[in-house]
Amino acid sequence: MSNILIKNIQALFQCGENFPAFLKGKEMDNVPQIQNAFVLIENGLIKDYGSMKDAPSMFHETNIFETIDANGKFVLPCFIDSHTHIVFAKYREEEFVDRINGLSYEDIAKKGGGILNSAQKLASSSEEFLFNFSMERINLIKKYGTGAVEIKSGYGLSPDAEIKMLRVIKKIKEKSTLDVKATFLGAHAIPLEYKNNTEKYVDLIIEKMLPIVAEEQLADFVDVFCERNYFSVKQMEKILIATDKVGLRSKVHVNQFSSLGGIQKAVELKSLSVDHLEVMENEDYQALKRSNTIATLLPACSYFINIPYANAKKFLKKDIPFCLASDFNPGSTPTGNMQFVMSLACTQMKLTPEQALNAMTINAAYSMGLQNELGTISKGKKAKLILTNSIPSLAYIPYAFGQNHIENTIGF
Ligand code: NIG
Ligand code: FE
Repeated sequence: MSNILIKNIQALFQCGENFPAFLKGKEMDNVPQIQNAFVLIENGLIKDYGSMKDAPSMFHETNIFETIDANGKFVLPCFIDSHTHIVFAKYREEEFVDRINGLSYEDIAKKGGGILNSAQKLASSSEEFLFNFSMERINLIKKYGTGAVEIKSGYGLSPDAEIKMLRVIKKIKEKSTLDVKATFLGAHAIPLEYKNNTEKYVDLIIEKMLPIVAEEQLADFVDVFCERNYFSVKQMEKILIATDKVGLRSKVHVNQFSSLGGIQKAVELKSLSVDHLEVMENEDYQALKRSNTIATLLPACSYFINIPYANAKKFLKKDIPFCLASDFNPGSTPTGNMQFVMSLACTQMKLTPEQALNAMTINAAYSMGLQNELGTISKGKKAKLILTNSIPSLAYIPYAFGQNHIENTIGF
């Protein structure tokens, strides 16, 4: 791998050493930056960075094969999308039209649409088709600056189809230049044939699917959609205890439509993240305080299916760490554009651009277990960087929404 020098950077964002594993409260207000900066990359890792005035003495000592003149543009660490369902067989724009005509996301699911609709499409799709179709989206999110992505299964809902999805994710891991983490989400919805016997499906997940997932090392994490009409807190608990037994950690969907006590249980069982959190009671915030479980907020999902936004300001005020992710999926969020997510975080959740960037980099890295590798521009971390267009400020990214402000990605 070549050594790369990026010079004449107008401002280098999120750079420094000895960051905490994640930021919370007031710590999220600032993004460290160096004006008129350089970055030196060696073998894909950050070797050095600093002010241009300190650069020359070091340049001739180092073997530089490629120089990129940033020409007054900005450099940031890549965006990290810690919650997606990017592998699917078909978009579901017909349900979008149903919602325009008055049905709710939950109404559509009750009619057999939603996740079950995606599962039906996926069952008849080949691994090769799924890989190629999903790679289109991987290449798309890369253009918008995403350098690491978590991908869930959950449109299989049978041992064969779940394993098929996880194999596709594994292949994406091998073939793409993004850092990929795989999450097994067998408990995404109740298949029709188990409608009157959900316990039996939970047992199938625990006894049949989870052992294969663990044995073949097909997932880094396990997820459960804990929600009314989906999986109860008790059922989630059962799955998470089994998850712990096979040595995996969990990241769970909770509190999207109702507060059932899933957050408390997930914190107790040491989930790495609890995701959605649009509907929250005081006890839910309380459970998250002083835990190592990070919240994942998904504003593009709220935007698209017209549900309340998670109360990001309250998380800040209560010193509860959170990250932002896209939730890219064909039902509730058909985009993986993290610049749009940033814009919604600012306009709808009233976060500052700095708070939003912290949530999409350092905190998002933590929520994927990548805090030692990505999330900041620090010596020894992976050099997956974004070079912006000629834009006037960091705030311009969420301000001028609906456009791509990335000129190039470097290192991925
Ligand atoms: O996170 N809420 C559950 N799962 C996804 C949506 C999946 C779908 O509609 O296909 C979500 O919003
Ligand atoms: Fe999701």
